[in-house]
Amino acid sequence: TDSITVGELAKRMGIKANELIRELMQQGSMVTINHPLDFDTAALLASEYNYEVENVAFDEATILEEVPVIKEGEEAPEDLRPRPPVVTVMGHVDHGKTSLLDAIRAANVTAGEAGGITQHIGAYYVELEGRKITFLDTPGHEAFTAMRARGAKATDIVILVVAADDGVMPQTREAINHAKAADVPIVVAINKIDKPDSNPERVKQELTEFGLVPEDWGGETIFAEVSAKQHINIDQLLEMVLLQAEVLELKANPGKRGRGIIVEARLDKGRGPVATVLVQEGTLHIGDPIVSGVHFGRVRSMVDDRGNRVDEAGPSMPVEVTGLSGVPDAGDLLYAVEDEKKAKDVAQHRQQKLREAELAKTSKISLDQLFAKI
Ligand code: GTP
Ligand code: MG
Repeated sequence: TDSITVGELAKRMGIKANELIRELMQQGSMVTINHPLDFDTAALLASEYNYEVENVAFDEATILEEVPVIKEGEEAPEDLRPRPPVVTVMGHVDHGKTSLLDAIRAANVTAGEAGGITQHIGAYYVELEGRKITFLDTPGHEAFTAMRARGAKATDIVILVVAADDGVMPQTREAINHAKAADVPIVVAINKIDKPDSNPERVKQELTEFGLVPEDWGGETIFAEVSAKQHINIDQLLEMVLLQAEVLELKANPGKRGRGIIVEARLDKGRGPVATVLVQEGTLHIGDPIVSGVHFGRVRSMVDDRGNRVDEAGPSMPVEVTGLSGVPDAGDLLYAVEDEKKAKDVAQHRQQKLREAELAKTSKISLDQLFAKI
């Protein structure tokens, strides 16, 4: 734990232990030289001697049991279970990203589901013959790059939408570059094949320049020709995504404490901070103490993309979570931890670091201004 003895603190500050004991006595605590001081007490005491205490014992990663990158072999193979792929749709403006996401969701809404397409939580999953696929609902490159900038990898597969009547355009290229940089495989959806002037062969030809070569041309890229508007070949596209997912052999250990990524978050008038979490490792349960960014709390409620209340959420499941003390940023990681104190410690430690960073920034600015005046 984060503590230091009276004797050790005195030694570090170059004063006699007796002096510190006397000081503490004046403050009303009778202590011995071996008495442990917690971080706050030590910091306060030290400040009286013009010292600053740095909390080196505070090891965030240990508390969070964080494994930055799960390397093969680090996790016991018998604990790993297959998990659904997480898919992002990218492509040029107006090529049909939103229409495609809508068509996929509509194809998956069973007649019995009241109200048809339900809640928007920023992510949803579909099922094809019992196999699940999770879709991130935020098409576009910004969400993707924002998450990548934070070192988070939220996506397993990118569906690249290219309109068959328009072909490869600037944002198509951008999307390809993003996916390649993130080492995420691309499944190509040639869209708008219902249009009379559509030319899927030309799109394939154009994409070969980027190394995206269809299998029937001797390459390795999976293509599907669809119409989001007319709902043509949507199931076939999902099949192709599952095929790509099989190649990736996606696995996770659902037996651990939950860890996920914030897809989106907002402040709800009635429910407080509400965050859509994509669970990436382990299982998140109601009541779990959690920390995300500089916020902490307990999972108070979880709702899936269909608006159903759920008690737990495993790998690749998106859920809307309430119970955090504040609104985290998209791309922040969320951890379930052992107890709420730990969640609070981590959050407060981060808050403090943030404040320090901001203070350093402002003092730097004022120094610069000072020099500017001279
Ligand atoms: P941005 O979000 O603005 O980048 O566009 P988007 O990629 O989400 O495209 P969106 O789904 O909004 O579709 C753009 C236009 O293309 C709309 O008018 C759609 O109705 C139309 N569209 C999308 N898919 C198809 C299709 O399969 N066939 C035809 N004919 N039109 C389509
Ligand atoms: Mg759109």
